[in-house]
Amino acid sequence: MIGRRNFLRGGLAGVGGLLLTRSTPLFSSSASTGADSRIEVLPAEPLGTISPNIYGHFTENLSGVVYDGIWVGENSKIPNVKGIRKELVEEMRKIKPSVVRFPGGCFADSYDWKDGIGPAEKRPRRTNFWFGDETRSAPASHRYDPNLFGTDEFVRFCKLIGSEPYLAANVRTLSAQDFDRWVEYCNSPAGSTTLADLRAAAGSSEPYNIRFWGVGNESWGCGGNFTAQQYAVEYRRFTTWVPDYGRDLAFIASGPDGDRWSWTRGFFEEILRKGKEQLRSIYGIALHHYAWNLSRGATQDWVKGKGDALKFEAVDWYELLREGDRMEGLITGHWQVMAEADPEHLVKLVVDEWGPWYKPGSEATPGDQLEQMPTLRDAVFSGMTLDIFNRHPEKVALAACAQLINCLNSLYLAHEDKFCVTPVAHVFAMYADHQGKQGLRTIFSSPNANYDRDGKPASFWGLKGSASLRDQQLILTVVNPDVQAPRETEISIRGASVQSGSVTMLTHSDIHAHNTFDQRNVVRPQTRAFDSKGGTVTFTFPPASVTKLALTLT
Ligand code: AHR
Repeated sequence: MIGRRNFLRGGLAGVGGLLLTRSTPLFSSSASTGADSRIEVLPAEPLGTISPNIYGHFTENLSGVVYDGIWVGENSKIPNVKGIRKELVEEMRKIKPSVVRFPGGCFADSYDWKDGIGPAEKRPRRTNFWFGDETRSAPASHRYDPNLFGTDEFVRFCKLIGSEPYLAANVRTLSAQDFDRWVEYCNSPAGSTTLADLRAAAGSSEPYNIRFWGVGNESWGCGGNFTAQQYAVEYRRFTTWVPDYGRDLAFIASGPDGDRWSWTRGFFEEILRKGKEQLRSIYGIALHHYAWNLSRGATQDWVKGKGDALKFEAVDWYELLREGDRMEGLITGHWQVMAEADPEHLVKLVVDEWGPWYKPGSEATPGDQLEQMPTLRDAVFSGMTLDIFNRHPEKVALAACAQLINCLNSLYLAHEDKFCVTPVAHVFAMYADHQGKQGLRTIFSSPNANYDRDGKPASFWGLKGSASLRDQQLILTVVNPDVQAPRETEISIRGASVQSGSVTMLTHSDIHAHNTFDQRNVVRPQTRAFDSKGGTVTFTFPPASVTKLALTLT
């Protein structure tokens, strides 16, 4: 990220829009008349339990994420729960947010947790890591961290929304002792230590019992510019004999950026120099993948390669999905590399930053750094990504969408008293039912989506998704990425029959559709009863859509 950070300001080079006119009814589940697609769910082929933790979120102290997005302050006229934006809390409860990562991101390796505890009026102001990329007109809190939202406020936020906290420790500029002490502040028993007393003074004599701890972030870049081997040495030092207070601490190592296989391999090789038992100190290794390069192979330049969030053609739609679809190969690829050192797979993958990353210019709040406007394209992207995680439950133990609010693939946008839910949040709400269910192998066969890629014919897969089952309740989520073609599909669940159910669908006739502070419900899911029964049912997935079928089986 050290390279990325310096190149965040790009020009706005928009292209014309594409408005689709729907030719099929929104919901269609009548008897088959000419299906061109098939989905076969295989209940006898379980993949593993889908961890609720893959439905996690990321909140970095970056521009408008914390100050304005989450934290409005107790004395604000904006409705709040002890300083935390009330509408955000209410909306988040709907999506069952399993885990939230804080405080970064690159910010984490510049942050001293001690600045963010104790009486608010005594907390110091510090230069934010992202200061250099803020505009001059940015609010002071985006440039100079007032430290009003620290560990206690973050844990309070997690409690309010029903999430587990995931804290990222500073490996670049703090010591292993500081890390031990942060764990002590959070987890030492009531009355046991001076830090436990400080926590009690902040309102919690009982320990927070935080389990997930990231050990640095992007340590190959902004998190210290280490080699994989150097980082592995630091990782061992930071995680050896951390006081656990009876908690099964889960340490997450800073992992590769995209297809940097050498990082994964180098990290594990160095870890194993101290013996195989070292693997037991690693819960997961964190993979980051952003879909940012929409140049169709023209450049690898971090600025020039970016596309526009709002102004795009069909080819850009597919290009974004292609970039995001690389996630599946990254998961299986790193998993294979990990197996060289860890054939039993004691260590899991954690994908704690994922999402599209566009050039600046579409911010709901002009000037908010890294804010962009999520459209239907990003909802389809998000459905596709969550389906990929669901298809690999034995590999992916935790994931976090980057980021929760006012940043990149935002689920929510907020500024002062204005708030809206983006199409991405609707997808999270739809997919929440997969959490904790048994993932099932599912076969999708469908014609490809064909399109023109700079004068050459190109294609993208036709239909994909994921299925999960518990107590005869089947959840099937399906993405149709084709911007024009509906897919009439025969769906069968081998050895079972559909008795009843419901269908929830997110789509729009305009692929650029999005919600704003003024028009909050342009893109929203619709639900109705699923009226088809039997061994094989037929359903038409409209173009550019994300669909959830919730079916009761017999
Ligand atoms: O999400 C924004 C930044 O992207 C994070 O701080 C960093 O980890 C990544 O490069």
